Formats: sequence, C-alpha cells, structure tokens
Amino acid sequence: MYNSKITAFANYLPPKAVTNDDLSLMVETNDEWIRTRTGISQRHVSTGETAADLCIKAAQKLIEKSGTDPLEIDMILVATITPDYSTPNTACLVQAAIGADNAFAFDISAACSGFVYAMSVADKYIKSGAAKKIMVFGSEVLSAITDWTDRSSCVLFGDGAGGVIVQASEECAGVIAEDIHSIGADGLKLTGNALFIDTPFFDNDKEKQPYLKMDGKAIFTFATKRVPQSVCAVLEKAGVSKDEIAYIVPHQANYRIVEAMAKKLDMPVEKFFMNIENCGNTSSASIPIALADMDDRGLLKKGDKIVITGFGGGLTWGSLLIEL
Ligand code: UT7
Repeated sequence: MYNSKITAFANYLPPKAVTNDDLSLMVETNDEWIRTRTGISQRHVSTGETAADLCIKAAQKLIEKSGTDPLEIDMILVATITPDYSTPNTACLVQAAIGADNAFAFDISAACSGFVYAMSVADKYIKSGAAKKIMVFGSEVLSAITDWTDRSSCVLFGDGAGGVIVQASEECAGVIAEDIHSIGADGLKLTGNALFIDTPFFDNDKEKQPYLKMDGKAIFTFATKRVPQSVCAVLEKAGVSKDEIAYIVPHQANYRIVEAMAKKLDMPVEKFFMNIENCGNTSSASIPIALADMDDRGLLKKGDKIVITGFGGGLTWGSLLIEL
C-alpha cells in the first residue's frame, strides 16, 4: 500500500489588500477592535478574480515549483464554498486551464474544514491505488458572499487559494491518522448563499439570503471545544505525543480561538502557525495558504510531523496528522 506524501505547496492571494482602516471608512468599526478580537490586520480581496482564477494561479505555481508535467496528474480536488458555477465544478475549470488532461476533477464543500476533508479523500485514493498524483486545493472568493454593510462579518473574511501535490510514496508515512466529524443538526448556525426559489410556480415570500451569516459566539464555543478533542484524537490514534509535533496548522478563523485551543491542549501557542493577520479568514483556503506560507519561510522540514485542523460550516471539523 502506498502512503500519501505532500511534495509541493503553493498559494495565491489577489493583490488588493484591504486594511482595517479601509473598512472603518465603510462600517462602524476600528483597527483596534478587529485586531484585538480576531488578530486580523488586513485581508486580500478579489477585484474580479473568481475562485477558479485564484486556484489556477496557485496550480500554475505548484507546477512551476515542483516541475510537474500536468499530464501526470490523475486527480484534482478543490474545496470551496464559492464556486464559479454549480456546474462546471471549479476543479474542472482548473483542469482545463493547466492542461491536466488525464485527471478527473471535482469539488468538495465542507466550508472551513474543506481542505482537511479534501486531503482525507485524496489520501483514500492514494492508499487504494486509484490515483498516484493528486492536486488538492482550497480556493475562496468570500468577498462575493460577504455583506459589506454588516460590521460583525465583513471584517472577518478574505479571498485566496492554496494547494498541495499529494503523491503515492513508499518512503514517507504521509497521512498517518485522521479524525473527521460533522454535526448537521447545528448547520444553520453558519450559512451562506442560500438557494432562493422564486419561480412561476412558487412565489417566495421569504427574504433572499445571499450572504454569509453566523452565530459567532456559538461557532467560537464549538471550535474551542471540538478542535482540541480532534487534535488529541489523531495523536492518540497514531501513538504520537504532543512533543513530537513540529506545528499545528489550524484553520485561520480567529487568533483568540487558537489561543484557547493551545491552552486546552497545554501546548505553546507558538506551535500553532498563524497568518490570519495578513489574510483574514479564507475558509477552505486558509490551511493550504498557511502551509505554502510556511514552506516559503522554510518552516516545513522533511520528516516533520504536523497536524492540520479545520472547523466551521456544516458544522464540520476534522484533523489530519501528517508526516512531511
Ligand atoms: O471560519 C468559520 C468559523 N467561524 C469562526 O470561527 C468565527 C468564530 N467567532 C468569532 O471569531 C467571534 O465570535 C467574532 C470575532 C465573530 C466576534 O467576536 P465576539 O468577541 O464574539 O464579539 P461579539 O459578537 O460578542 O460583539 C461584541 C461587541 C458587540 O457590541 P455590544 O453589543 O457589546 O455593544 C458588537 O456589536 O462588539 C460589537 N462589534 C463590533 N464593534 C466594532 C461586532 N463587530 C464589530 C466590529 N467593530 N467589526
């Protein structure tokens, strides 16, 4: 049986950066509130680029960095909640743009856990022998489903894409353990882009709800309870101690959530990689954006064990323990 080794990392952020001060000109907020409540100083925002456009840029970087022939790729997965279309899926748009003619391609929708879910799927395809070289992305244009008049949400989100190449390998343990959950009963605590049915056959008297809406406090409590449990679960399954972990790479939702997680896990907060200051919350893209950022900074070393952990809409959450 092959293992799932990550062999390359890349990300792409749209060039336009919007600072907290910029937002304070649009809604009643200020830099101090946003920084102290969330850890965010700025976010990158699309000026017309779609999730596929951002993902294609990240894919091209991956190909360039790794010297991969696109024809060697046999599968493309894109985690997103802001696809360009219901169909074609974002992954097919990426496949066409990079000429990965031998790949099959589909999207995964699990909000801020999307990349963890997609990596879990990729791992199964590698372990079953059904695929040998997979591109796995998270890509979001959350700005398109953000209510820019609502200060409680518009300060949180950003746009961007990140991805990895996962390859069948006999020399590296790759994905060692996983812990993945959903709790659909709490799903309406975080919603976005609700389908609005208004047809010649049905006169909808409800309000259209195109924007991201969440019960921030409930999600905060959910994340600080469930994520530490999930991190402990993967470590336990693998018989790996906290000290053996080089980094935990959490979904970048709020610096305070990560502080609370570190406390619950009794681990130094420095072990949790954070780049929320620059990117905001980019949902399914946040973990692969962070991984590529770490790779660029030389923080990811061969043989290191890391945990990626996501949580959010669905509600969904999950962690993977990975040897690099
Ligand atoms: O990625 C998907 C998962 N999502 C998350 O993980 C998000 C989890 N939740 C959170 O990160 C936090 O709950 C938020 C950052 C969303 C909010 O932080 P909070 O400490 O829970 O603030 P709050 O909603 O309780 O609001 C506190 C006060 C309120 O004013 P009053 O009622 O105390 O007078 C808000 O109206 O802060 C006010 N407020 C703001 N003030 C300035 C809310 N948004 C803003 C703002 N600027 N942008």
